[in-house]
Amino acid sequence: MNRADGVERAAQQPPILVQNLTKKFGDFVAVDNVSFAVNAGEVFGWLGPNGAGKTTTIRMLLGLLHPTSGSTYVLGLNSATQTKAMHGVVGYMSQQFTLYNDLTAAENIRFYGMVYGLAGRELRQRLAEIIHMAGLDGREDTLTRNLSGGWKQRLALGCAIVHRPKVVFLDEPTAGVDPISRRDFWTLIYAMTKEGVTVLVTTHYMDEAELCQRIGFISGGRLVAIDTPDNLKLTQMRGDVLEINAANPDLAMRLLKEAQRRGQFPLDEVALYGAQIHAVVPSAGAYREAIHIMLQEAGVEVRSIERIAPTLEDVFISAVNAPVGG
Ligand SMILES: Nc1ncnc2c1ncn2[C@@H]1O[C@H](COP(=O)(O)OP(=O)(O)O)[C@@H](O)[C@H]1O
Ligand SMILES: [Mg+2]
Repeated sequence: MNRADGVERAAQQPPILVQNLTKKFGDFVAVDNVSFAVNAGEVFGWLGPNGAGKTTTIRMLLGLLHPTSGSTYVLGLNSATQTKAMHGVVGYMSQQFTLYNDLTAAENIRFYGMVYGLAGRELRQRLAEIIHMAGLDGREDTLTRNLSGGWKQRLALGCAIVHRPKVVFLDEPTAGVDPISRRDFWTLIYAMTKEGVTVLVTTHYMDEAELCQRIGFISGGRLVAIDTPDNLKLTQMRGDVLEINAANPDLAMRLLKEAQRRGQFPLDEVALYGAQIHAVVPSAGAYREAIHIMLQEAGVEVRSIERIAPTLEDVFISAVNAPVGG
């Protein structure tokens, strides 16, 4: 395909397009016939448990790994066959962000700028912009190894977008970073999208999942749900969530798990969130009182037991546990 075709295709296509994508490692299916599209300027959360196939999908989108079948397009460019052209217009930040620890913050940016062909005034200008964006003013000459996690992470993002990519892939960019730095990082993500950048991001933090405009949820290589966070909560929950506040949550958890095993209650899921227990039941009205009595009779002081709106985590647990094909 010539360049003009590519440009034309880019104008018609969403910036990220995944079509019937499958990746097998031997007999193991890591990504199983996945299709989705991400719209221009969108923050798309690509979520799922460990080993679900998130990174494998991203590696195929970046053309670093060839699909067993199916195809991916980024800005209209086929990841597998137009990889080089695509790399010029995408940014990628992985969990092991690739910064040079023995270079200063500014040197890292300059290095990546030069890799992408920036030079002279353009490079100096971009360097200043990125230092400012990352909040690194005054730390330009600090050795990267001496920057704390949050600074390093923002510097890594800066290096990943030094060439002004139109699509950015962020694979667990905030893993292990403190909550305030994570919040700052999301401010940067949204600042990018205001400039028309499309972002695909993976995260394990549910507060961050809530910040995504749309979420694709992958489990066991299969795309199980794709929608806005609010719609996922409305459509993906099988049952109601009861939040149980007990004086002894550990004991209450044990009792509930036992009751679940015995089939005493049709508990879809019981999980601890901090000190609160979330139990998913077919209907709050039918089971709230019965669970209360069971716990109380076993010696647990129940402070409250209320139906609550599901969190995204409840939704994901429910989606993962859904019967295959359901
Ligand atoms: N190169 C590989 N060879 C064999 N198995 C792999 C390879 N890369 C990933 N996998 C397996 O594919 C599954 C999905 O991995 P990955 O995409 O990294 O998951 P995630 O990023 O969602 O945690 C995992 O079970 C992983 O062990
Ligand atoms: Mg991964």
